[in-house]
Amino acid sequence: MSAKPARNEDFLQMIIKTVTNGIFTIDGDGEILSFNPAAERIFGYKPEEAIGRNMAVLVPKPVGMEHDHFIRAHLKKSGSKPNGRVRELTGRHKNGRAVPLELSIVEVANNDVPGRPDETGRTFACIVSDITETKRTIDAFLSEKRRADAANLAKTAFLSNISHELRTPLTAIIGYGEILESSLKDTAEGSQKEYLAHILNAANLMSQLICDLSDLASIESGKLDLAPHNQSVREILEQCLSMTRSIADGRRIEIVNLSSVKKSDTVWADGKRCKQVLLNLLTNAIKYNHADGRVYLDSRKTPDGYYRINVTDTGYGIPEDMRSAIFEPFNRLGWEKSGIEGSGLGLAITKKLVEAMGGRIGFESEPGRGTTFWIELSTKDRTLSGRFSKGMANPHKNGIPELSFDPHMGFHWAVGTTKPQQTF
Ligand SMILES: Nc1ncnc2c1ncn2[C@@H]1O[C@H](COP(=O)(O)OP(=O)(O)O)[C@@H](O)[C@H]1O
Ligand SMILES: [Mg+2]
Repeated sequence: MSAKPARNEDFLQMIIKTVTNGIFTIDGDGEILSFNPAAERIFGYKPEEAIGRNMAVLVPKPVGMEHDHFIRAHLKKSGSKPNGRVRELTGRHKNGRAVPLELSIVEVANNDVPGRPDETGRTFACIVSDITETKRTIDAFLSEKRRADAANLAKTAFLSNISHELRTPLTAIIGYGEILESSLKDTAEGSQKEYLAHILNAANLMSQLICDLSDLASIESGKLDLAPHNQSVREILEQCLSMTRSIADGRRIEIVNLSSVKKSDTVWADGKRCKQVLLNLLTNAIKYNHADGRVYLDSRKTPDGYYRINVTDTGYGIPEDMRSAIFEPFNRLGWEKSGIEGSGLGLAITKKLVEAMGGRIGFESEPGRGTTFWIELSTKDRTLSGRFSKGMANPHKNGIPELSFDPHMGFHWAVGTTKPQQTF
């Protein structure tokens, strides 16, 4: 015999002794033939205690039984090979403690491993990792996720209830305020009229906020019903323009409509929600603009079957370091003390609505020069795709980030995680 194979053998033994994975070999009956130091650490048996026993002591019933069955019935009879895939199971330490493990089994040639192969001449190597720490981290993460989900559900229910409770008295305030306004039209003093206008203005703002909160709660719980159809783009643009012109005039902002939409141009969308989206973008373009600024509206078909609408303003722009937070609910990027009214909900809702209608949204901005927000809605009839048939998709179900509430972070968007599955 040459010296080289012996050195190889020594080298292999050294690796088996030093790896952090437990490695033990078994014969076709599951009898342990060799046991490395890492396996000793994982299971608490010394090699001399483990060797000669069945591997069922390490991987107890029922899994051990299954394994026994697997070895006997499957391998011995059919001569097929274990595929080495990693399987998650519970092992048993010598002191009785359960040890979460990852185990994979591969067949090795007899002369590769020390020990006594059985009469069938087959030997298998079992490679195990103790995943106690990984499990602990996953369990801690899952229980934290469950806690956050429960808090999120409670928040959604709260939003929904509070919106309903606030709406009723507010409707009375606005209704009676308007009656008072018209009945005092000729008789009231200037200051009384002014006070009443303040009351109505504040009540209307509050009403808008309640609508936004209610939308958010519906989106969150997957209960927002959308009624999509082939919606005329021209109709949407015209209605939104006429609704925003007076606000723009009040700030001496000119809205320039550059889009040349054909009467036949349609998008597959819910008309009411489509208007809500565009109104949000247009009012933002007016609000975050300089007096005497401009807002450009243009639109065109894209080569990939969408209709793109751009809303460009000549306003303040969005600082680079704040852009990632722009679609976060309640985040006003520092404008809360500016005197410009808002709740920071508009863009969060807008993004959700656009995505729920199968569309896309984005923006480009140059601080000091202006911003373009764009949306793209599909021009294709999606009736058959089923995308809209059950109302708005539940964010939990389709992997869209969901709105979460955390006592420390407040509201934030979180992406759901799924635990990787491993099978034998
Ligand atoms: N066209 C725009 N130009 C500059 N900043 C904008 C523009 N649109 C939105 N923003 C910023 O994004 C924030 C979130 O917008 P939005 O959700 O509509 O909330 P709101 O308008 O109620 O503050 C705004 O507070 C503002 O800071
Ligand atoms: Mg807004």
